[in-house]
This record gives sequence, C-alpha cells and structure tokens, in this order.
Amino acid sequence: MRENELVRFIYLPKITDDGSLVFAQTPDHIPFPINRIYSIFDADPKFPRGFHAHKKTQQVLFCLNSDIKIIVDDGKKRATVFLDKPEHGLFLDKMVWHEMHDFKKKTILLVLASNLYDPDDYIRDYKEFLGLSKASG
Ligand code: TYD
Repeated sequence: MRENELVRFIYLPKITDDGSLVFAQTPDHIPFPINRIYSIFDADPKFPRGFHAHKKTQQVLFCLNSDIKIIVDDGKKRATVFLDKPEHGLFLDKMVWHEMHDFKKKTILLVLASNLYDPDDYIRDYKEFLGLSKASG
C-alpha cells in the first residue's frame, strides 16, 4: 500500500538480538502526546469492528500478532491497509472513518490515542460523518 495523505505509516525502530524489541516515543515516532492506550484481542473473526470516526482523537494502530485489514476513509477517498508487523503502525487522524476487518483468532491490536475515552468524540453514522467531513472542508 503506497502512502498518501489518507494512509500514513509509522515505522518503529526494531532491535534484534536474542529476540526482537520495538519501541515508540513521542514526538520521535508518535506525533501526539499519548493519553490512552488500549488493545483489542480475542475478537470474533466473524465480526468486523470500528465503523466510526473521531471528532478530535488521533490514534496509531499496531498489529502485534497475526494480521488485520483496515479500511480508512476521509470522506473523499477510501483505502485498504494491511498491518502484519509489530513495527509498522498506521496513523489514524481525526475525522477518518475506519473499519477493522478479517480479525484472526490470534490478532492483537495495540492502539495509542491522543485523547481520553469520550463517547461524544465518536461519529458512528456514516452519513453524518460524510456531512461533517464536507462541512469541515
Ligand atoms: P469501540 O471503540 O466501539 O470499539 P470498536 O471500534 O473496536 O468496535 O469500543 C468498544 C467498547 O469499549 C465500547 O463500549 C466503549 C468501550 N471503550 C472504553 O470504555 N474505553 C476505551 O478507551 C475504548 C477504546 C472503548
């Protein structure tokens, strides 16, 4: 997947000796102060997740185990991204609709977020997202 304004990868340093170590720090790798982290694992492969955008929150997603397919959409363009390496992150800007598809039993997603959890930060209706996205130019 080629990078563009919608798809921005973050490549972390990987130290390999007896094993592998990957690290991230702000602002060298993560372009915002990290206020929250969460992970998604044991997801049922039958059910995709996400299907929302955030009004303010920026995030970086890492797939620590197995792989995941992520659809990103900024209201103008849509792209499909595959993550399958712990050192490759996907930057998800605010106002980017995202969907996570094809979870495997072993998929582990780690998410670094710029803001605290706030249900009011979510836009869960795609039509509303398109309207707000258009309005904000
Ligand atoms: P949600 O963001 O909707 O997950 P997904 O997009 O993967 O489907 O969150 C699922 C549930 O977890 C929802 O009830 C909100 C809760 N949650 C928190 O309480 N804090 C958090 O930081 C996150 C990300 C979710």
